[in-house]
Amino acid sequence: MHVFLIAAISADGFLGQDETHNSMEWTSEEDSQWFWQRTEQAGAIVMGRKTFGATRRPYTPLPKRKNYVLTSDPVPWQVKSEYPLSRLEYTNLSPKELVKFAEKESTELGFSELAVCGGSSVYSQFLLADLLDTLYLTRENNVKLGEGIPLFAAISLAEALKKYQLIQETALNDHGTVMQEWGRKK
Ligand SMILES: NC(=O)c1ccc[n+]([C@@H]2O[C@H](COP(=O)([O-])OP(=O)(O)OC[C@H]3O[C@@H](n4cnc5c(N)ncnc54)[C@H](OP(=O)(O)O)[C@@H]3O)[C@@H](O)[C@H]2O)c1
Repeated sequence: MHVFLIAAISADGFLGQDETHNSMEWTSEEDSQWFWQRTEQAGAIVMGRKTFGATRRPYTPLPKRKNYVLTSDPVPWQVKSEYPLSRLEYTNLSPKELVKFAEKESTELGFSELAVCGGSSVYSQFLLADLLDTLYLTRENNVKLGEGIPLFAAISLAEALKKYQLIQETALNDHGTVMQEWGRKK
């Protein structure tokens, strides 16, 4: 299964100012549209519990996608959830186990790709486990956050990109939002 990272970073390289900072507050409308369209096409997403809690309507799954949420303590969250497992599943599987599990579910649930939607700790784990085939990185070149959470908790962006090559770069608007697609180096 194709597994990809999808993220937006500020001009100074941050995902958000802190773990509660909702990206919708500072990223462009065009990036939101891109995120929405590409993750819907994938059909399945995975994110950390803090990112799931920082979204516009906290703890609500994105529609038309299987939502996997990583947490060390899934049972109480699942018990409280009003959504079926086919839409929202809390899990403590490792990234590698989760990709295998998603692969098994993909036929029954009708999805073909897994979008890794952050935050920093989750991006890092999938990167370090070498599970990311593609990185879709939106750079909001007109936004500086000053301080905050880096894209990868464990490694610099420059170091992470050494394994990847730039496939394409697309301007999403005319005020500095650029989406880069990076693929694995052959
Ligand atoms: N700009 C963007 O594109 C973008 C995208 C995504 C997120 N963000 C931002 O990033 C920030 C959050 O990032 P973050 O790194 O602080 O948190 P995070 O990765 O969203 O969530 C971390 C939490 O996920 C759970 N978790 C992670 N890996 C796990 C594993 N292998 N097994 C079990 N549970 C696991 C743990 O939850 P428990 O504590 O429940 O155990 C952990 O505390 C927010 O500001 C968010 O808005 C930005």
